[in-house]
Amino acid sequence: MYLPRPLEDKITVPYLRRLKQQGEKFACLTAYDYSFARLIEECGVEVVLVGDSLGMVLQGHDTTIPVTLEQIKYHGTSVMAGLNNTLLMLDMPFGSLNSPQQALDNASDLLKATEAQVVKLEGGITQLKTVEILAKFSIATCAHLGLQPQSVHKMGGYRVQGKGKAAARQMVETASDLQQAGADLLLLECVPADLAAEITATLEIPVIGIGAGVGVDGQILVLHDLLNITAGKKPKFSKNFMQGQSSIQAAISRYVSEVKQGRFPDQSHSFS
Ligand code: KIV
Repeated sequence: MYLPRPLEDKITVPYLRRLKQQGEKFACLTAYDYSFARLIEECGVEVVLVGDSLGMVLQGHDTTIPVTLEQIKYHGTSVMAGLNNTLLMLDMPFGSLNSPQQALDNASDLLKATEAQVVKLEGGITQLKTVEILAKFSIATCAHLGLQPQSVHKMGGYRVQGKGKAAARQMVETASDLQQAGADLLLLECVPADLAAEITATLEIPVIGIGAGVGVDGQILVLHDLLNITAGKKPKFSKNFMQGQSSIQAAISRYVSEVKQGRFPDQSHSFS
């Protein structure tokens, strides 16, 4: 049976670890403003991400690359104003992590300005040293493996990652190295479901998936995908939760309930 979490519970990194240990799934969602943040919290979402997806869904860019640190700070402050107990995570945008020192300065600045709890960094193994240094300076991090939208021009498009034995082994190893370096969370994007489940079972830190199957600890979606208002082609891993619902609250609550019951994502929203 699924019971919504008590809304007075303060969500922290150790809280998410406890959920993982207890085998309880958690729901995450992006938000970019105060009003949606309030509503999302009321629906029992555990983690809100101010993602650099804002470059695409709010600003209309083709990629996340133009997003700046100032914009993450602006939206982060607005979202934090709508949250009481939900964990707030912020994306480190393209160009804000070009050296460990730059990342440390930028992450410190972001967390001071917004009072968010976690920063998320794309870059995988390239960010190992940075994750280590941020951990040393008490900054909680979420590493990000699989499809990394900030590398879209290097990768030549948005594609499933970790396919094939060698790429899969490499991802398992990198995930473990990032945990060892001090990452507190790991996000897997567009990764075959079996591989994501293996990584989740191997790691002690909670693993959040988007397009990574049902075998991870938490799920995340871009709010606009969930509400079916994203322009253009919808990603395979997203689902229109507005369908059959009469309000945005009902759609988000449905998402939370399906995640917690392990009913979302099903095979049609996963990769093999
Ligand atoms: O920016 C974003 O919204 C993300 C999602 C893929 C989770 O990183």
